[in-house]
Amino acid sequence: MAEFSDVVRSRRSSRMFLPDKPVPRELLDEALALAMRAPSNSNTQPWHVFFATGERRVRLVDALLTAVEAAPPAIGSAGLPPQFANLRRETGALVYGAMGIARDDAAGRWAAQRHNWEFFKAPVAGRVCMHRDFGNVDAMGVGMFLQTLLLALNERGIGSCVQVSISFYPDVLREQLGIPTDLTILCGLSIGYADEAFAANHLDTPRNPISENVVFLDD
Ligand SMILES: Cc1cc2nc3c(=O)[nH]c(=O)nc-3n(C[C@H](O)[C@H](O)[C@H](O)COP(=O)(O)O)c2cc1C
Repeated sequence: MAEFSDVVRSRRSSRMFLPDKPVPRELLDEALALAMRAPSNSNTQPWHVFFATGERRVRLVDALLTAVEAAPPAIGSAGLPPQFANLRRETGALVYGAMGIARDDAAGRWAAQRHNWEFFKAPVAGRVCMHRDFGNVDAMGVGMFLQTLLLALNERGIGSCVQVSISFYPDVLREQLGIPTDLTILCGLSIGYADEAFAANHLDTPRNPISENVVFLDD
């Protein structure tokens, strides 16, 4: 069994999957059983996940791409307040740079971004939701579930990518997956075997020095 530290360090977002290599259901179930161990406020276990595979996934992707063509998403915002917009540009430069797409190649960028709504060809297309009456505290619980799931998948050699971009089309998701209106759709989740030949799947995204995010006070 892999060391925990190695599992954490080797996880990264995959943005191209092997479409014809299915994820064995028993491995997905193992990872989900571990993720269910995540802590949550009053043990609310606020996460609700919908997975589409097979024909359901094909119909979902068709519907999403139709919606994308009809009304291109306002990607520029992507939920980030203006003072943090530079972080989105920096990450974009890193990801698209690794794909060999030049900064001024708008068509190339759009073609790469469009893969978001194909779940990067992943055979398992997920939606992560929580009850609409829950707030930030419970969203933390969903995040803990999600990270545990990503790590458990990584430990089993399975790749993933969390995707806010999928949430731009909530009506399509509700219709295609039968997501009830009392659930807020938080993000998408692509799961599959990463295409190792895809250069951007080997990105080492930088992290701040700990001191930028953590303060110790002892006076
Ligand atoms: C809540 C959340 C939303 C994200 N949305 C997207 C997305 O829509 N598209 C995408 O390509 N990556 C998305 N990502 C992946 C991040 O860009 C990625 O986690 C970050 O750049 C760090 O890279 P790493 O996951 O490889 O360590 C998202 C990640 C999180 C946690």
